[in-house]
Amino acid sequence: MTRSIEDPYRDRELVRLYDLDNPGGPDHAYYRRLADTMAARSIIDLGCGTGLLTRSLARPGRTVIGVDPSPTMLDYARRQPGSESVTWLEGDASALAPDGSSDLAVCTGNAIMHIGPEALPATLISLAAALRPGGTVSFESRNPACRAWEGWTPAATYCERDTPVGQLREWLDVTDITGQRVVFDAHNVFPDGEDRVYTSILYFRTEQEFRRELDLAGFTDVTCAGGWNGGPAQVRSPLLIIQARRA
Ligand SMILES: C[S@@+](CC[C@H](N)C(=O)[O-])C[C@H]1O[C@@H](n2cnc3c(N)ncnc32)[C@H](O)[C@@H]1O
Repeated sequence: MTRSIEDPYRDRELVRLYDLDNPGGPDHAYYRRLADTMAARSIIDLGCGTGLLTRSLARPGRTVIGVDPSPTMLDYARRQPGSESVTWLEGDASALAPDGSSDLAVCTGNAIMHIGPEALPATLISLAAALRPGGTVSFESRNPACRAWEGWTPAATYCERDTPVGQLREWLDVTDITGQRVVFDAHNVFPDGEDRVYTSILYFRTEQEFRRELDLAGFTDVTCAGGWNGGPAQVRSPLLIIQARRA
């Protein structure tokens, strides 16, 4: 068994499958619509991963920055068609210039959930510093009230499938739940029989927690939608989709 507790996205073969498994749908449409509605000329995609959405945000007259701490994700992103339209930065939000010049910062695919409580305040402050006054931040996060982790059992998630990198058996297994922090192992077995295990730690936060953190980081006008077409979040909305403006 090979185990990683560092970068859960460091397996080149699994990263090659990421966009097939996460092709984007109403979530990507929402972020593109937001950028277009704002006529954003400068966009940051924090936790850009393979950059599928990031590249689709690029247009003539608009600069797009993709930031991600995973070298494997970023290496994949840099090799995709259209990647030359994006500036790629390896790192977290502290890699962003605090020049108050960006119109919009997004953090998609629940990437914000990878950021622990010790790092979230600094992350939001870095985003605020990179945005112009009145600039917008938007991200989504799973609603803790829906307790998604309860479905991440080996029995409920076990799957066998053909993939472009070979037959794959995969399943999830939650190993620890402490308050808002959920730790789970993603098991991946290709035909060589090795079980590659990648451990993720996700933080489930409430709307109120996000509102407090955003306020402390200097954001205002916070809204929280419960779906990609708008409408306020309900108690059981699976996702919390947040927008806020830099004060
Ligand atoms: C589920 S992927 C989402 C990727 C992409 N945004 C999407 O929508 O498909 C989560 C991403 O967050 C990145 N990530 C983890 N910790 C981070 C941090 N502290 N700051 C920014 N990104 C982080 C991971 O490397 C990974 O690429």
